[in-house]
Amino acid sequence: MNTLFMHCRPGFEGEVCSEIADHAARLGVAGYARAKPQTACAEFICHEPAGPLRLMEQLRFAQLIFPRQWARGSHVELPETDRISVLLAQLQDYPLFGSVWLEVMDTNDGKELSNFCKKFETPLRKALEKAGRLQDNPALPRLLLTFKSGREVFLGVAEADNSAMWPMGIPRLKFPREAPSRSTLKLEEAWHHFIPREQWDERLSGDMTGVDLGAAPGGWTYQLVRRGMLVTAIDNGPMAESLMETGLVQHLMADGFTYKPKQPVDWMVCDIVEKPARNAALLETWLGEGLCREAVVNLKLPMKQRYAEVQRLLERIEEGFEARGVNVAIGCKQLYHDREEVTCHLRRLDIKKR
Ligand SMILES: C[S@@+](CC[C@H](N)C(=O)[O-])C[C@H]1O[C@@H](n2cnc3c(N)ncnc32)[C@H](O)[C@@H]1O
Repeated sequence: MNTLFMHCRPGFEGEVCSEIADHAARLGVAGYARAKPQTACAEFICHEPAGPLRLMEQLRFAQLIFPRQWARGSHVELPETDRISVLLAQLQDYPLFGSVWLEVMDTNDGKELSNFCKKFETPLRKALEKAGRLQDNPALPRLLLTFKSGREVFLGVAEADNSAMWPMGIPRLKFPREAPSRSTLKLEEAWHHFIPREQWDERLSGDMTGVDLGAAPGGWTYQLVRRGMLVTAIDNGPMAESLMETGLVQHLMADGFTYKPKQPVDWMVCDIVEKPARNAALLETWLGEGLCREAVVNLKLPMKQRYAEVQRLLERIEEGFEARGVNVAIGCKQLYHDREEVTCHLRRLDIKKR
């Protein structure tokens, strides 16, 4: 059990390695990170068997930027037939489980294995139940089996409350037909990731106001309107008619980098494709000056050193808030719907709801 296995967006394996190696060094967990390009996974091999558990106990999964899912465990070779007996034998060293997910990598090879996993899931589940390994108790850890082929699986375990919300970290969100653009799912996913579901009514409520910088055609504005908010949409481009007809949207043709609301608003969201340092500076101004209480902003990533660049930007934002003496919680994640970018969520903790 000396391996921490992580899923990620294909092409971001190096970022996962840098990020986990950084945390492991800080936490004094000896080991090394490794990954092959475009495999959509990376792993951290610990020198001690307890290393992966220590990492998982001391890190919050939601606070990692590039990993989409994680599990501690080991690789197991499977025979052509009776894979279940081999798996059950291997599971002797594992705890009891409250749930089981079968996962594949987010690659073309992985997608081809999905059918195999679907067929394998029911007999495996039954065998685990019969052997007493799977119990109906959500407090127990989750068994995560990541299949690399029908003959090779990573047999992993993760705490259900400290790992991805969805198998492989891929959200099952339905594209709303009335939304004007697909990027609407990015903001919806951000809310699932950054705001606990039980707080949605309080933090995304219909009596709130929002500003959407770089709003056209309105996928993000749509999400704010769907929650009942009054939205100021800033963009030189046209907004979808359907949104304007709701009467909840004011469209201003202005520059998102200079616009400031006359009255503070609850939410600011920004999806302008710009140099990340400019978008990061926007965050500092809006949250720092109290122009909004919460914000979701996309940061486009450079071609190289992407983890280092994100860290540098986050540190700079944090230092800015420290200098102003304001208390802001900062989250950052490469969401499933993000491409060459990450999504930041910020919340002023010292301003109460108006
Ligand atoms: C990726 S699109 C936004 C898509 C939108 N979030 C949606 O879901 O439909 C980026 C938008 O930013 C706008 N934009 C670019 N620079 C801008 C600026 N300086 N001020 C305001 N909008 C800007 C563009 O016109 C474009 O409509």
